[in-house]
Amino acid sequence: MKRKIIAYNFELTENLNKLPDEFEVEIFDSINPKTDPAFIEALKDAEGIVGLALPVDQQLLERAPKLKIVSNNSTGYNNLLIEEMTKRGVMGTNTPGVLEDTTADAIFGILIASARRIAELDQFVKSGSWKGHLTTAEYAIDVHHKTLGIIGLGKIGSAIAKRAHLGFDMNILYHNRKRNVMAEKNYQAVYCDLDKLLKESDFVCLMTPLTRETENIMGEREFKLMKKSAIFVNGSRGKTVDESALIDALRNKEIHGAALDVYQIEPIKKDNPLLQFPNVVTTPHMGSSTYETELKMAELAVENLLAGLTGKRPKNLINPEVLK
Ligand code: DGY
Repeated sequence: MKRKIIAYNFELTENLNKLPDEFEVEIFDSINPKTDPAFIEALKDAEGIVGLALPVDQQLLERAPKLKIVSNNSTGYNNLLIEEMTKRGVMGTNTPGVLEDTTADAIFGILIASARRIAELDQFVKSGSWKGHLTTAEYAIDVHHKTLGIIGLGKIGSAIAKRAHLGFDMNILYHNRKRNVMAEKNYQAVYCDLDKLLKESDFVCLMTPLTRETENIMGEREFKLMKKSAIFVNGSRGKTVDESALIDALRNKEIHGAALDVYQIEPIKKDNPLLQFPNVVTTPHMGSSTYETELKMAELAVENLLAGLTGKRPKNLINPEVLK
């Protein structure tokens, strides 16, 4: 009998052809992993899972007694209940190191799009509203020489700081668990507490992973601390933001606008009030989604999976304790 692997919402499935013949892959796409009968059945024999944002919780782990590894096709791993996986001897892996520049391009891109109203003005042209010279109603705000506050200055945050400082002469403030000496030296990033960052930044860019500590890190109090002229950018995870507090801040004009790539619920529901604001740029969690980078991520995810299933240490093991 072949050894079973589950691929869940794994787009570039041709990469699975590289797996040796001893494995068979069952592919699941856009199903409900809690209720789909074929998926639940497949879990009984699965030794490995590779895919995107599968909630790996107690129930799933109970349903998958042979599971050895869950290989995330993403750098974020808030979908994995790591402590429980470790207890059960299940490895977790992710795909860092290949997507930082791509994601930084996208998040800095939506920051610019929001400040310069690119999506709005695109509609202005396409709808035939451009009748003459631009008036103050179409004016935007500058990005260059402003202050960018980055909450979470890891690899992607640093790549954003690089673009902002070296390309746009921006001043960088940051708040992070640890000091980032490289960014302080190369991009003159200045470490400060969260409140100071919120009060002084023209753009507040949230790039933290989602953890117990960062869940709802941006709430009513935090939006009130921001400048009325400031733009909020979220490139982390939706649950780092209290979305109703963000909606209130936008309604009450406590902030100037927002640029969002992630949401509390994904895909975002059509009736979410965030979709009604012209001053909110929305993209579909696409930070790393270019052909080149998705390919590198898929290759790395398969490499990690195979290592875990063949007794080797996966390159991007999140819970090394599991090997002790
Ligand atoms: C990541 O790699 O974590 C991206 O957000 C895609 O999920």
